[in-house]
Amino acid sequence: MSFTIVEPAPARLNRSELAVPGSNPKLFKKAADSAADVVFLDLEDAVAPDDKAQARKNIIKALNEIDWGSKTLSLRINGLDTHYMYRDVIDVIEQGGERLDLIMIPKAGTAADIYAVDMLVTQAEDAVGRKKRLGFEMIIETALGMANVDEIAKASPRNESLHFGVADYAASTKARTTVIGGPNELYGVLTDPDAQGERLYHWGDMWHYAIARMVVAARAAGLRPIDGPFGDFSDADGFRAQARRAAVLGCEGKWAIHPSQIDLANEENTPSKAEVDKAQRILKAMRQAQKEGKGAVALDGRLIDIASIKQAEVLVKKARQIAKG
Ligand code: GLV
Ligand code: MG
Repeated sequence: MSFTIVEPAPARLNRSELAVPGSNPKLFKKAADSAADVVFLDLEDAVAPDDKAQARKNIIKALNEIDWGSKTLSLRINGLDTHYMYRDVIDVIEQGGERLDLIMIPKAGTAADIYAVDMLVTQAEDAVGRKKRLGFEMIIETALGMANVDEIAKASPRNESLHFGVADYAASTKARTTVIGGPNELYGVLTDPDAQGERLYHWGDMWHYAIARMVVAARAAGLRPIDGPFGDFSDADGFRAQARRAAVLGCEGKWAIHPSQIDLANEENTPSKAEVDKAQRILKAMRQAQKEGKGAVALDGRLIDIASIKQAEVLVKKARQIAKG
């Protein structure tokens, strides 16, 4: 182990994160009653410029009046390059009470962006005597943000998660996409001819690098990596396949831009019973070996190392969190 200890962000379930436009208050109650682990109330790209001020008011009202139960609540503020952002922070902290948990910072480009928001949030919180400190979620969705992802991840003790914003990322990098967050058939590998001269074409995952890169930065800073939107909400299988790819790389949740995607995201980010059972058996075998003073542990004829024990612990902890709701 390194002498550097990575402190994990506060443990929260983040399997699904539902996007709700602040300009559409009819959706707020439904979001509060949904199965989403996290709801983010949006002031940014889902809200037209003329509706920003009203959306802010709607959100402040909803924070004060709606029963959000045990949901984690986030606010997506506008970008730092707009004149909306300071008022998003100030008005919501001054008038929105204590219910909000997180602020989502879109298009995070440099560590200084996070520092600037931290300064503003800290002043506003101190001025109103807010008891609960707001955490930060950063969307990595520009070439600049991806180039600085490590510094962004470590920029504030408020940081809790990194999110891959594939739509803006594609625009920023000029990637050729067809469906938001889905694959592109042009990104594939043609195999060499086999004995019969046949060649196969395998689609690849054009988002592999970006998600894997973000996962590394997030985990190195103790944050949760979360996969962003999948645009075609009529394609449940496509959503599941993308959520699964991201989860395999280490993400622990995915956005839902439509209520129909909440259960899909929850299911794909919940460890299966077989996985949890296996993890529990690993931990049991380890405890037994410790009792017997043995260093090495074997299970089902395979040696278990420290890494597999740690993974088992993470999995069992997560299963407990899910069971608690
Ligand atoms: C999310 O904000 C995205 O741009 O994908
Ligand atoms: Mg975006």
